[in-house]
Amino acid sequence: MQLSFVDIPAHESDLDLRIAELRRLIVYHSQRYYQLDAPEISDAEYDLLFSELVELEKTYPELATADSPTQRVGSAPVDKFRAVRHRLPMLSLENATNEDEIRQKLDQRVKNELGLPESESLDYMCEPKMDGLAVELVYENGKLVTASTRGDGITGEDVTENIRTMRCLPLSLSGDNIPPLLEVRGEVYLSLDAFQKINSDKEENGEPPFANPRNAAAGSLRQLDSRITARRPLAIFCYAPGLVEGVSFASQLDFLEAAAKWGLPVNPLIRRVTGIDGAVEYYREMQAERESLPYEIDGTVVKVDSYRLQQELGEKSRSPVWAIACKFPPRQAETVLEDILLSVGRTGVVTPVAQLRPVDISGVTVARATLHNWDEIAAKDIRIGDTVVVERAGDVIPAVVKVLEQHRTGAERYLPPPQKCPECGSDVVRIADEVALRCMGLSCPPQIRESIKHFASRGAMDIEGLGDKFVEQLLELELVHNVADIYQLKKNDFMRFERMGDKLASNLLAAIEASKHRELNRFIFALGIRHVGERTAKTLAQAFGSLDNLEKATVDELTGIRDIGATVAQSIRTFFDSSENLSVISQMLASGVTPTVTTKKAGGTLSGKSFVFTGTLTRFTRDEARKLVEDQGGNVLSSVSKKTDYVVAGEEAGSKLVKARGLGVAVLGEDEFLALMETRSERNL
Ligand code: IVH
Repeated sequence: MQLSFVDIPAHESDLDLRIAELRRLIVYHSQRYYQLDAPEISDAEYDLLFSELVELEKTYPELATADSPTQRVGSAPVDKFRAVRHRLPMLSLENATNEDEIRQKLDQRVKNELGLPESESLDYMCEPKMDGLAVELVYENGKLVTASTRGDGITGEDVTENIRTMRCLPLSLSGDNIPPLLEVRGEVYLSLDAFQKINSDKEENGEPPFANPRNAAAGSLRQLDSRITARRPLAIFCYAPGLVEGVSFASQLDFLEAAAKWGLPVNPLIRRVTGIDGAVEYYREMQAERESLPYEIDGTVVKVDSYRLQQELGEKSRSPVWAIACKFPPRQAETVLEDILLSVGRTGVVTPVAQLRPVDISGVTVARATLHNWDEIAAKDIRIGDTVVVERAGDVIPAVVKVLEQHRTGAERYLPPPQKCPECGSDVVRIADEVALRCMGLSCPPQIRESIKHFASRGAMDIEGLGDKFVEQLLELELVHNVADIYQLKKNDFMRFERMGDKLASNLLAAIEASKHRELNRFIFALGIRHVGERTAKTLAQAFGSLDNLEKATVDELTGIRDIGATVAQSIRTFFDSSENLSVISQMLASGVTPTVTTKKAGGTLSGKSFVFTGTLTRFTRDEARKLVEDQGGNVLSSVSKKTDYVVAGEEAGSKLVKARGLGVAVLGEDEFLALMETRSERNL
């Protein structure tokens, strides 16, 4: 007998279930990763879920939905952004620049307005003031429908497509009590790491770099082609409601807690305090913590916590009476630009570097600053001998902001762009569409020197002991001419170095030997292919599984991989099309270099456990520690949250240790950590 229940074939409903399951898992794990900083699965496992969903949606396009987590790749470029009128104006904040002003402009004013006595202690919400750009997100029945920039506060630009590419932001809210209409405001920003990566890519490409992370975030968000935005790891912290219907909140803290429960990113450093003294203390703490945060903040924001009081206090012309921005002093200083030096990088880019009369900028002595390129020098009219304003703005390398023309004496001198490489004398050319000047010399010593240093460096082949000094000696003695020559070195070669002992020479050789079996991703990164950083190298190793497969990959195959764009793909292809490069690689393989492919032990005894390292480690390096943890299935994260399982504190551990103690996170010393690793790996045997 044949039974027929429904018209839909069984496999189709299975499919629906699987797709729903995959979407749920991807949203859940994205939140663990981006918002809680506590991933439960490895990147590779996440990628597997993601690619399964992409495949299914490609095969069954009728099952694709606009709020699927796969819809974050961006879409075709638009001519210009549509204007969006904010239902409630997006206000600005009045500034306070010191502690007295925080008290006067907020606490005293608020008490005056409310007729409260001086002695009254009000509840204030303290938040870091993110240095990015404000956006408004509109969720209707829990679904993200519109996102717009602040614009002039009344009308902004429609950046919905771009915002949708941000992986840290839910396209659908989760949890209970979701309002039918939720407008939420927040600050879009880029982490310092992401900013530096974008700028080094830009400099490699000969494009002008962004001056600071805020400009980089704005430039990335305001892309007419959202596919470019999709490749920039923009992040957001939500900080205020706009119009909300159907749910009400008693206070700012209530609102932020609800937002976090719905899956919206909220800065974990927010704090409610009682009395303005608490807000001043928070301002001091944040200023101290500023340098160790992975993103830029330019102050704190203090808000009257109660929404009833906020309403009572109302607004001045463009800013609320109930809040104030407490700005940090700028990290700028004036000094004299004594000379312009030329530095040649690994890819031949000749960068002008300002040599400055050393000056202290918030505790750091600055003697050099990048001038980026000659377009920049011309645009700012920078001359040798000028008095300039120098700024540390999120970047490790300070930048020259502007020239103080009023200090000119007439003795200042303009330095024209070089025609010849300062290092090898080859022609320097400006490639079309690039602002950078490039030395075209194939055997330009600094290019070779930098590529060998990079090859041996920590994130790459990690040849312990083979630091910059030894690489320079190897080159001087003409013992190496390219990276493959490293694997031909004999002990006697090292013995020719000044002050080289037998033991050190043996150690160096052993380290070279050990590097032969590094993971494939490190090997790919070590090759120094333009645009291939550590993360891209990982993606490539995972996608291709072997060097051979990668060497043969076509541009189409490469661009088919998530996060690999046309420029990167072309650069990889060009690298492997060079017979010189292929010959260096085959020499290495012939010397016994066998890049290995490792998969993380998902079932390791530390599976799902997260570690944060802080302070100066003396028993092992950070890389070694990371490897120990990852080999057993754990994760190493950069910031502490209440979800962190262990904080390992080295010498002079600072704010992260304080935070861990405050949150009750287990703190281990270096020895305790090693002991934990040993017991864990024994149990794992
Ligand atoms: S509240 C009416 N909170 O600072 C309240 N703003 O100088 C409006 N910002 O336009 C803003 N972090 O772009 C608020 N935690 C925070 C913030 C923050 C950064 C920015 C925001 C605003 C600007 C005002």
